[in-house]
Amino acid sequence: MILNTRVTDQFPDNFLWGGATAANQYEGGWNLDGRGMSIDDVITGGSVDKERKITLPKPLPSVYYPNHEATDFYHHYKEDIKLFAEMGFKIYRFSISWSRIFPNGDEKEPNKKGLEFYDRVIDELRKYNIEPLVTISHYENPLNLSLKYGGWKNRKLIDFYTNYAETLFNYFKGRVHYWLTFNEINMLTDAWGAVFGGGMLEKKDNTPQNRYQALHNQLVASAKVVKLAHQIDSENKMGCMLAYHCGYPYTCKPEDIMLAEKYDQIHNLIAGDVHVRGRYPGFALRYFAENNIEIQMDDSDLETLTEGTVDFVSLSYYSSTCVGSEEDKAKDKGNGTTGLMNPYLKASEWGWTIDPMGLRWVLNKLYDRYQIPIMVVENGLGAIDKVSDDGEIHDQYRIDYVDQHVKAMRQALKDGVNLIGYTYWGCTDVVSASTGEFKKRYGFIFVNKFDDGSGDFSRKEKDSFYWYKNLIAHNGNI
Ligand code: BG6
Repeated sequence: MILNTRVTDQFPDNFLWGGATAANQYEGGWNLDGRGMSIDDVITGGSVDKERKITLPKPLPSVYYPNHEATDFYHHYKEDIKLFAEMGFKIYRFSISWSRIFPNGDEKEPNKKGLEFYDRVIDELRKYNIEPLVTISHYENPLNLSLKYGGWKNRKLIDFYTNYAETLFNYFKGRVHYWLTFNEINMLTDAWGAVFGGGMLEKKDNTPQNRYQALHNQLVASAKVVKLAHQIDSENKMGCMLAYHCGYPYTCKPEDIMLAEKYDQIHNLIAGDVHVRGRYPGFALRYFAENNIEIQMDDSDLETLTEGTVDFVSLSYYSSTCVGSEEDKAKDKGNGTTGLMNPYLKASEWGWTIDPMGLRWVLNKLYDRYQIPIMVVENGLGAIDKVSDDGEIHDQYRIDYVDQHVKAMRQALKDGVNLIGYTYWGCTDVVSASTGEFKKRYGFIFVNKFDDGSGDFSRKEKDSFYWYKNLIAHNGNI
């Protein structure tokens, strides 16, 4: 007998093609139907050169806050979902706005009108046989949880989050089967993540100690709700979500290899290891010890972590970076996300390198390590789109980007990775998370809305819309 080496780069028949968005960047309707304020409601727009500002404790009257209306899914959900169906989506990833369900985050009873909005969204998806994939917390917390409790460094949030998630599991039982507990949870290892993921809005709170404490609290919260979700409905499939910044060694110096490995462990893998294996890896313990980080825990936390491991891993992948010594850093311009510029790669208009091979590398890395199904739930190109004289949006650059990443996924399938889905990020134009711009567009669907607040929210298919539709029609095998 000979070992069967028949391998295929074809996507499986049940592959979940779709798109992804998040409530705070897409929904709008910030003060409708009993919704409470969320952290994004006090964050201004910005740009590459101008940081977003946080105005506490509430929005200022004369200032424009792009997330208040965003691209108005709240009033366009039927139209948008119809367009998703036309593209052939099998799955749609969206997040629920916590403050729409619990306006202050710490109430016992939910806001019915908030639940009813998502009822309508899910009904609409089901009408077209599109599977909902719900992110329970995507870079937004009720503002009150930051003002009153200081955000996720406070472990009281574990109970509020558990109550929120339990409400969702019971209310949407049998209608939602795929859930992600926290978007890009590992971004808490960075200063940026403290605000958006951690709800720690004061500069003085943005310390490694608080960030890793917040990460621990979220990991415990995640494990608790994974267990609950399985108890409430055994059909529930629970995933974690990691922001994967693939970090190559800047040179082949052994020191750079080790720096890149440490970057990967501490930045990318620390949370995944706890989510999937149910315990902290040794490198995390060493990192905490050497950086004077003291994680406060309850006696039951370690057991909770082992009891609430996830069913699948999901990730966002946009670009890669290089990791090198301080000496190398001094010579380098950086790549707009993190780390050093890779001279072999081109970058987007926002400086994010374009590296499809990195996606294959990451998928291999994650599957080798965890051996459970993987979903790419974010990937895409943020670019300045122009409406041409013929009235169309010719975004060939976006088609090229997605095409190359789909080809990289095919290589990963051939490598043996159990990849089950792909949801392109920002399938409709949304507000950028990092810069708060409308100008940084990802969508296959253009939304007529601009950074000065003008625009009528009308929708228009870009060239990429038709390309993606054809890709799905051929199950990715084009
Ligand atoms: C991911 C986030 O980090 O990247 C999304 O989960 C975000 O919320 C996306 O929008 C792209 O980033 P940006 O800053 O270009 O919107």
